[in-house]
Amino acid sequence: MRAIAADGTDSDPVLSEVSEPQMSADDIRVAVKAAAVNPFDWKLARGEIIPDMERHWPFVYGSDFAGVVTETGSNVNRFAPGDRVFGQYVSHPAGHGTYAEIVTVPEKSAVTTVPEPLDLISAASLPTSGMTAQQILEAAELQAGENLLIIGAAGGVGSFLTQLAAARDLRVIAVTKGDESARMGSLGAARTIDRTVDNVGAAVRDESPGGVDALVDLSSHDSTVFAQHCHYVRDGGVALTTNWVSDDSINPSNIETINFGLEANAGLLDTVAAATVAGTIQAPVDFRLSLSDVPAHLEFMRAGKGRGKAVIVVDDEA
Ligand SMILES: NC(=O)c1ccc[n+]([C@@H]2O[C@H](COP(=O)([O-])OP(=O)(O)OC[C@H]3O[C@@H](n4cnc5c(N)ncnc54)[C@H](OP(=O)(O)O)[C@@H]3O)[C@@H](O)[C@H]2O)c1
Repeated sequence: MRAIAADGTDSDPVLSEVSEPQMSADDIRVAVKAAAVNPFDWKLARGEIIPDMERHWPFVYGSDFAGVVTETGSNVNRFAPGDRVFGQYVSHPAGHGTYAEIVTVPEKSAVTTVPEPLDLISAASLPTSGMTAQQILEAAELQAGENLLIIGAAGGVGSFLTQLAAARDLRVIAVTKGDESARMGSLGAARTIDRTVDNVGAAVRDESPGGVDALVDLSSHDSTVFAQHCHYVRDGGVALTTNWVSDDSINPSNIETINFGLEANAGLLDTVAAATVAGTIQAPVDFRLSLSDVPAHLEFMRAGKGRGKAVIVVDDEA
């Protein structure tokens, strides 16, 4: 089958011909129609995260997918051939990923059916970014009217988080790199700060003189930078990092700080899909890629230039 795969942690991913993954009695086999691109995918493939995890070579990239079930294992009860499904899955060993024509996925993983009338490209954009945004909002425990500062707001998680927060009547202050005010405003941000030209501290104080109620930092990969951003938060507020750079020894002590880790599950997928079907959020698919477009787009995203979600259309009839 065709897939985007790499031969080693230092190798660049390329469009390759690889063997189809094996299937067990607990698995469903899915013909992938579309797969979203997430930073997690290259970080895992390159050993930048979970370096000790056993890896299969060639390493097929990808964790989010949407497609159609073609076969079910003998222990499978929840799905049948022909079902439209979507989800997030990391194989063990890692490397049987979703940037591929076929994936096999345990029935009990974060996979669920795609509700009508959601299309498979939109569904593929939801798992990692949508679940992360939804679970961050649950962790932050904010009330309507409170201020939420999002740094790195223009990317995948930020695009979902802005919409979900605005739908809860939170006041979103989006910090972006470059002028994203029209796009972020259309997603529901009350104010967009371009950190390439604006003084972020002054702009945040102008918006929220006593400090914001919550900060979600999607951008910083450095504890010192995250700790500096925490000073934008009011006494008793909360700050989360998705990049695990919170360090209590340097964070301000008057706020709660959280290293956020997604706990993916099928119920969370259903919640995000239902919000999309209801029109509360729109799948922010800004890039539609073919498999051959993927290596260049990964470089583009690694340079911090990604906007919204990029979805690989593996099967043109998706
Ligand atoms: N812990 C978890 O469970 C979890 C779950 C999901 C994601 N994550 C992590 O959270 C981060 C955001 O995820 P995402 O899907 O929103 O990523 P994304 O789509 O690539 O967006 C990340 C945003 O960060 C900003 N950025 C600034 N400098 C960057 C650089 N050098 N490289 C990449 N981005 C840069 C950009 O925003 P501006 O241009 O607006 O500044 C970019 O839009 C990623 O690091 C991802 O690995 C963690």
